Amino acid sequence: MRTSVVAVVMVMCGVMVHADVKPQRDFSLQRFAGRWYRVGLAYDSPKFIPLRDKVKASMGLITPLPNGNVNLTMWDATPVGCLRQVYQYEKTNTPGQFSYFSTRHNMVKDITVVDTNYTDYALVLKHKVFNREYTQVALYGRSSTVRHNIIQRFKAFALSRGFPPASILTPPPAENCPLSGSG
Ligand SMILES: *[C@@H]1O[C@H](CO)[C@@H](O)[C@H](O)[C@H]1NC(C)=O
Ligand SMILES: *[C@@H]1O[C@H](CO)[C@@H](O)[C@H](O)[C@H]1NC(C)=O
Repeated sequence: MRTSVVAVVMVMCGVMVHADVKPQRDFSLQRFAGRWYRVGLAYDSPKFIPLRDKVKASMGLITPLPNGNVNLTMWDATPVGCLRQVYQYEKTNTPGQFSYFSTRHNMVKDITVVDTNYTDYALVLKHKVFNREYTQVALYGRSSTVRHNIIQRFKAFALSRGFPPASILTPPPAENCPLSGSG
């Protein structure tokens, strides 16, 4: 059931075809549901460079909907405060793969849960164009810190996908976001 990140990286480097990125085998949305922290982020965008030092480990809440789609609620610590936003991910025919319409970039993107063991970490890839061109690799943890070896695997994975070292971040936990006492 559990695929190691290292094995996935080796398989993916061997094929080098983006369309062959495989989601977690036997992906279970129910087990994936609940609270996650984005403890690692690889994002290679010129606009993002000035913000890199300010990024905090955002909290996210995965809510499965009865039709198999997902609501992802994210709380982001920003210079103007703690912002909450809901993203709606639509299921695809492949369990572990979702699509969503990015209003910010005005295009459909897809999200693949590449590797997760549900209780500790999840490695998630986001493509700009369905199944092509990575825009982001994220490492999610069930708590706001994850083990060092998981971080190392995430970094190796992002490097192997062509992200420059400076674009690979492991942000510190956010303080008071979500605001204490609110949901
Ligand atoms: C999912 O998100 C939509 C849009 O924000 C909202 O209207 C809906 O109530 C949410 N559903 C659940 C179960 O949270
Ligand atoms: C998930 O990964 C963590 C860290 O490697 C490990 O301690 C834990 O036992 C794993 N859980 C499962 C269900 O495999």
